[in-house]
Amino acid sequence: MTYRVAIIGAGNIAGSHLEAMSSLDSLAPCAIADLNKDRSDALASRFGLRSYSDYKEMIASEKPDIAIVTLPHYLHLEASMFAAERGCHILLEKPMALNVKECDEIIAAVRRNKVTMMVGHTHHYTAENREAKAWIESGRLGRLLMMNDRRHLRYDTPARPDWFFEKAKAGGGILTNLGSHTIDKLQWLSDSRVEKVKARIDYSQKRGDVEGGGSAFLDLSSGIPATMSQSGYPGAVVDETELLFTGGSMLLKSGIGLWVSDGGEYREVPVPEQAHPFVLQFEDLIGAIEQGREPESSMAYSRSVVAAVESLYLSSELGTEVSVDHGGESDGRG
Ligand SMILES: NC(=O)c1ccc[n+]([C@@H]2O[C@H](COP(=O)([O-])OP(=O)(O)OC[C@H]3O[C@@H](n4cnc5c(N)ncnc54)[C@H](O)[C@@H]3O)[C@@H](O)[C@H]2O)c1
Repeated sequence: MTYRVAIIGAGNIAGSHLEAMSSLDSLAPCAIADLNKDRSDALASRFGLRSYSDYKEMIASEKPDIAIVTLPHYLHLEASMFAAERGCHILLEKPMALNVKECDEIIAAVRRNKVTMMVGHTHHYTAENREAKAWIESGRLGRLLMMNDRRHLRYDTPARPDWFFEKAKAGGGILTNLGSHTIDKLQWLSDSRVEKVKARIDYSQKRGDVEGGGSAFLDLSSGIPATMSQSGYPGAVVDETELLFTGGSMLLKSGIGLWVSDGGEYREVPVPEQAHPFVLQFEDLIGAIEQGREPESSMAYSRSVVAAVESLYLSSELGTEVSVDHGGESDGRG
């Protein structure tokens, strides 16, 4: 079967989805919508699509099988509800929504309309991450004991759109945007969920009203503790996850490489070649639709990421450890 696909939002990430679809016969992108019509026109002419400024009009006239939502975070709820109610399967960009209350509304609408939703937690499909997970599961380095994740990069660049710096539109700053990738990665690698957090967040950044960085200690349901540190301030760029085992250690640089040690210096290990993560993500979505199963990043799973991110802010505000609200949603990961 070939699925007709419409894209809601023609910003930075929309082109990556369109490029990935061009290598998949089962997906036929037909239209794209953006309030900024120049943007939707540009991608429409590059990929041979119809262009709209109003995504509701696009969904109503095109009646796509799948809608991809690549909008600012505060619009994820509204656009997902609209697409679900018109019977579209949905690939919703991360994070699922601004907070768990919105996630619950999306989950209810998707279930009510019996469509499939995947949230774009791309780290599940990155070659180095998948190889790291295979090493963990093989037990070759013993039992996983702890994880430390560091993500430092200048966040306030002119290229980053203003909405990313407005709490009401983005939900938060670097800890929401990149932190949702980190929490996803830590949960996915350890096959467990963050249950408690103790965070300290810094608000020295001048642009908008979001944080500029922060650190947290995370307690996961597997019993494996993790730390995360994110800084959007000037400094050396770092994107590393270090995993410590009973019989060795592992250094994961997503998208770059994987190193292991069972005693001496780290040695780089080969990472199998694979399709682009966005292609694998689409294949997972199609499999979920056709087999009536959940995708890797199901709604329940993606809600757990939003719940953990929300708890970072609450913990920092209260100055105490906070239990993550997983509601009644279970994704089978403890
Ligand atoms: N998976 C990843 O690795 C990854 C990478 C980048 C971004 N993202 C996510 O993708 C989403 C979009 O991010 P981006 O960087 O592309 O943002 P962006 O600001 O570049 O794009 C958003 C687009 O939405 C448009 N828009 C705003 N309101 C609209 C409306 N009511 N109707 C139609 N269009 C509207 C804007 O004009 C803009 O073109 C976010 O959720 C972000 O976190 C994910």
